[in-house]
Parts: sequence; structure tokens; C-alpha cells
Amino acid sequence: MAAIVIDGKEVAKSIRAELAAEVKELAQQGIVPALTVILVGEDPASHSYVRGKVKGCEEVGIRSEVIRMPDTTSQQELLETIAHLNENPNVHGILVQLPLPAHISEKAVIDAILPEKDVDGFHPINVGNMMIGEDAFLPCTPYGIVEMIKRTGVELTGKRVVVVGRSNIVGKPVAQLLLQENATVTMCHSRTTNLEEVTRQADILIVAVGKPGIIGREHVTPGTFVIDVGVNRLETGKLTGDVRFDEVAPIASYITPVPGGVGPMTITMLLKNTIKAARLLAKEEKRKG
Ligand code: GUN
Repeated sequence: MAAIVIDGKEVAKSIRAELAAEVKELAQQGIVPALTVILVGEDPASHSYVRGKVKGCEEVGIRSEVIRMPDTTSQQELLETIAHLNENPNVHGILVQLPLPAHISEKAVIDAILPEKDVDGFHPINVGNMMIGEDAFLPCTPYGIVEMIKRTGVELTGKRVVVVGRSNIVGKPVAQLLLQENATVTMCHSRTTNLEEVTRQADILIVAVGKPGIIGREHVTPGTFVIDVGVNRLETGKLTGDVRFDEVAPIASYITPVPGGVGPMTITMLLKNTIKAARLLAKEEKRKG
């Protein structure tokens, strides 16, 4: 039987409705969550992602601001901008859009963001707290993937999850979050031998490599839940995933399309993190008096 194709836009829409209600409730306490996005340079894909983030904020009632800086910006200038935002009590979430120009160290920039305002969940303090299961800002794409699986009603406890790709942004954290959900998690990467043999053991297969169509029919056992995190732009301009959708959809139980699968969830979880940051910072302000 053909897979259920998960409509990420619909799932995101229902979460955003919940978030809008939360924002309304916070407004009654005089708290308006606020996100500042820093965009350095002219990368068209980054500009498009940032537009999506601003639109998402508008949709749920979060105040947003975009600071645009030229690609000639020095690392020092960027770090100073972040330092000001760290100190500004009216800014709850800070996100620096990646990638950055080559002369700026991404690590130095991520480390400079106050962990309490790190709504991307990239700061080592948040990564470390996530790893040991303490409260943390969770990185948006992995957080969105887990939420999406949960909302199908599929149980994670005891499931065999195979993650293909070991990036810091998706592969490693999603494996960690699913481990905390009591799944049995295996990670595969570019040096994995006999990839097919491993992926065929999956109940849930998560593919986050960034290579169009690297996963096909031969990697998937019928009935597998397949999540495609790849976002690849072909020369034709068309967006495509890491999974050969036409081959895999007829045999999977569930599958996420590209576009319209995981993508809309990522921004939604950023909105959720920004609301969480606003709540935590307001609580801290109140404690300080
Ligand atoms: N560029 C691509 N994805 C992301 C993301 O999740 N966060 C940031 N800051 N930049 C990105």
C-alpha cells in the first residue's frame, strides 16, 4: 500500500495556531516575544529562509527584526552587534543566519550568543544540556522531526531508527533526541559500509545528507517510516530531497515530501523556541525585581 504523505505545512499550521494562542496569553502579562535575525551578505537562499522566518513570526504575533549586514562585515563588527543584542532586554531570541562569509568563524559567532537567547539551539551549552537530557533550546529541524513523528501517533519507544548523515545541525541532534524517546538509534554516514544493509533494518529512516536521490527503493524495507531532510536545488531550479520519492513512496508507511515536509516544521520550532525564551527571560527579570 502506498505511504501516507505527511503534509508538513498542515502540521506546522496546527502548531502555529497553538503558538498564536500562547502569544496572546503572554500579551496579557505584557510580554511580546521578540526575535532578531542577523543576515550577513547576499546569499539568495539565506534571504529566502529569513523571509520565511519573518513571515512565521508575523503569523503567530512574535515581534521580529532583521539586521542586514554587508558581506564585508568583519567578525569583530558582528560580535559587537551580538553583544548589544545579548544586553537588550527587549530581544528574547537571536539567530545568525548561516552560512557566514568565509572570513567569519561560525563557531566564534555561535559561542557569542547568550545561551538563554540561542533559539537555534546551536550554542555548546544548549547542545550539552540536550545531550544529558536537561532543559535546553533544541535545534529546530531535529525538534520539528520528532514533533512531526509524534503527531502521527506512531510510537517511538523500542523502534529501530536509522539516521543517515552526521551533521551538527541535523544528524547528530536528531539521533540524540530519538534516543531520549527510547528508540534504538543507528547512525550512518559517508564512510558507512553496506549502507543498504543498515537502512533496510529501519522502522524509521531519517535521511539528512544533502545529496539528491541518494536513497532509493533498494535502501528501504516495505512499511518503513521515511523522513527526508534533504533540500537540494537542481540546475532546473527545482527543489528535491535526498530520497527518490517516486520509488520509495509506494512502499513506505509514511513519507515526508520535499518541499512541504520537514521544511515548514523547522521555522515553526524556531517560533516555539522564541516564545520559550521570552517566558524564561521574563521570569528571570521578575526574579531580579
Ligand atoms: N541555515 C540553514 N539552516 C539554518 C538554521 O537552522 N539556522 C541558522 N541560523 N542558519 C541556517
